[in-house]
Amino acid sequence: MKGQSLKETELLSLLDRARQAAQHAYAPYSNFRVGAALRLTNGEIVTGVNVENVSFGLTICAERSALVQAVSRFGPEIRVEAVAIANLNSVASPPCGACRQMLSEFILPDALVIFPTTGGDRVLSFNELLPLAFEMKLK
Ligand code: THU
Repeated sequence: MKGQSLKETELLSLLDRARQAAQHAYAPYSNFRVGAALRLTNGEIVTGVNVENVSFGLTICAERSALVQAVSRFGPEIRVEAVAIANLNSVASPPCGACRQMLSEFILPDALVIFPTTGGDRVLSFNELLPLAFEMKLK
C-alpha cells in the first residue's frame, strides 16, 4: 500500500502509537517528550522516542530514533509509507530539518506525515515537507 492510499483511520491509529511511545521518552532537560511511529511497506510499525543527554547536542529526536530502530530490525531495504509524530505537551512538533533529511533516504515521496501544529494535527506528504533533500550524486 502506498502512503497516499492510507486510510484516515490507519493514520489516526499510527498517531496513537506515536502518543503511546512518547511515554517512554527520556527528556529530563527539555521536558518535551516526543514519540514517532513509522509505518513500513512491509506492514510493520516501528516507534521511537527522543533520548536526551546532559551533553545536549548528543540528543536524538524521536523520528531518527524510530528510523534507526527500523533499519536495525528490518534492514536497509525498508521503505517508510507513513509517519506520525506526537508529544505529551500538546504543542506543535513538526519534524525538524535533520529528521526530514534522514528520513528522506528511506521514505516514499508520497508518504503521509501527520504531526501536531498550533492549529491542530496536520497531514502533509513527505515531498511537501522536504521538497529538495540534500543528495550527493557521485560520478
Ligand atoms: N525533538 C524531537 O524528538 N523531534 C524533532 O523533530 C525535534 C525535537 C526533541 C529533541 C529534544 O529532546 C526535544 O524535542 C526538544 O528539542
